[in-house]
Amino acid sequence: MDVRPLSHDFGAEVIGISLADVADPGARGDEAYALVRAAFEEYSVLLFRNQEITDELQIAYSRRFGPLEVAKVASLGEGTPFSILTNVDRATGKLVAPDHKESLRAKANQLWHTDSSFKQHPALASVLSARIIPPAGGETQFASQRAAWDRLSETTRTKLFDACVWHDYAHSRGQIAPHLASERERAAMPPACWRIRWRNPVNGRDSFYLASHAYAIEGQPEPESKALLAELMEHITDPAHTYTHAWQAGDVVMWDNRATMHRGRPWPAGEHARLMMRTTISASDADGVAGTRPPVEPATA
Ligand SMILES: [Fe+2]
Repeated sequence: MDVRPLSHDFGAEVIGISLADVADPGARGDEAYALVRAAFEEYSVLLFRNQEITDELQIAYSRRFGPLEVAKVASLGEGTPFSILTNVDRATGKLVAPDHKESLRAKANQLWHTDSSFKQHPALASVLSARIIPPAGGETQFASQRAAWDRLSETTRTKLFDACVWHDYAHSRGQIAPHLASERERAAMPPACWRIRWRNPVNGRDSFYLASHAYAIEGQPEPESKALLAELMEHITDPAHTYTHAWQAGDVVMWDNRATMHRGRPWPAGEHARLMMRTTISASDADGVAGTRPPVEPATA
């Protein structure tokens, strides 16, 4: 296996090992998994080119890293291991209108976020495969929350070290349209509170754990809390420190939800189809979940 860095401080293309190698249930698969897992811990975003992707292969590869999430309520793919991101209406085969729920969801995905931080159990990683790519736009952009933590001054790091943050799916959706998160979604996904910092148990490196779902810093008055969150989001997603992935047929990208943020980029959605399939791996205690829970039960949501 070889790696080719994608940017100056995070991300790498994996060369010489395929998803099928890692998915192999035998000793060869164990060896391939160990190499890819080490690269994942180090680089946070991994790109595999020219993969012959199938649903079965994506699931078998993803399962190497841990149990898979079931796609959330009221989403395309609900109840299956796949979150489906598309502007194609499956019933009619036509492109959906700009006010269609899937169009609004695509817009919400264009806010910087990390997957599943609003859930009661967070995600270790996401694996995204390109199935239909528009001829222009539709890139996925990444920012390293780990590199952003390292760029802080020692004083700010100390100040933020034990801060905890509330995340809510309805909050990020509310930035796109007031009722985009339905009653059913709100009931299934109440707010969750996490430390602002996730320590990687393998290499001991700290990372921010923030997202568009984050709406309040525990125990801080609202104006200060909102202003600080906005400032930190800007710091983390500084364009000088992002990587933009322009999708090619056969690409699969995996990212560490503990250490990165990402966002989709727009494309002419009224003219061109886009279909992306995502599997999401649940974080286990070995991935540092316990250390990310607030030290004391937070008082308010
Ligand atoms: Fe996402």
